[in-house]
Amino acid sequence: MTDLNEHTITEAVLERFGDTPDPRLRMIIASLVRHLHDFVRDVEPSFAEWQSAVEFLTRTGQMCSDTRQEFILLSDTLGASMLVDAINHRLPAGATETTVLGPFYVRDAPELPLGADVSQGSPGEPLLVEGTVASAGGERLAGAVVDIWHSDKDGFYDVQLPGLQHAAGRGRFRTDAQGRFHFWTIQPAYYPIPDDGPVGDMLKASKRHPYRPAHVHFMIAAPGHETLVTHVFAAGDPYLDSDAVFGVKRSLVREFTRKAPGTAPDGRRMDTAWRHLAYDFGLKPAG
Ligand code: BEZ
Ligand code: FE
Repeated sequence: MTDLNEHTITEAVLERFGDTPDPRLRMIIASLVRHLHDFVRDVEPSFAEWQSAVEFLTRTGQMCSDTRQEFILLSDTLGASMLVDAINHRLPAGATETTVLGPFYVRDAPELPLGADVSQGSPGEPLLVEGTVASAGGERLAGAVVDIWHSDKDGFYDVQLPGLQHAAGRGRFRTDAQGRFHFWTIQPAYYPIPDDGPVGDMLKASKRHPYRPAHVHFMIAAPGHETLVTHVFAAGDPYLDSDAVFGVKRSLVREFTRKAPGTAPDGRRMDTAWRHLAYDFGLKPAG
């Protein structure tokens, strides 16, 4: 393996990895080498361009911390996260479509009784969210854990607000004996993904905006079923067709219906206008 040139180097590198004992790892490395070399042949980068690519990835790593994962943002904004999601969620009829988890999920959010208000006093239009959880076949699931989180009226998640000591716009519920859940919160807003790092620079250089349409995140877990990670998006949002992370699916868009003052379905007396979102979820049986 000497005197390698642009025509022979790919095979030489593949051969060098040929004794990798784990067959899956061997296959992954071989594919990576082939695609990387093809990419370089396609682009024919100058040394300066290759150096700036290395610096971009270096800055991406340096931007990562316990609360910021710039590599996931890069994967999201390149559409890779949604491609991995699609490959891993070829769903049966009746199962709700999936979308990205995003960086604002918090493990162990407070468990609250059905009907609780998760807004914790944040200003905004009151929103009643209700729905059901069933197996893809239609059988309702009692005791399913419904984790929800969303942005406030200005597009911020609680974890982004300096000084906020308690959870807001997030909570965990359990479905009742009929597989139903409901809770109160406030209408979320569209918001930009964190764009003060190298991913934001990439978006700016490509004349792409960083916005995600308004949505409520759901993570729903029930024994014997795959955990569902998804959002419900607000119909009419200006960014539905250009989500920065390619996460929108038509089946996940719903009207967050504006309602006049009056009595809400759970008996709450509303003195102001409010909104109502209803969504019935289907979970894929495990295995
Ligand atoms: C989110 O919806 O919370 C999100 C998803 C991907 C990247 C950034 C934010
Ligand atoms: Fe989000």
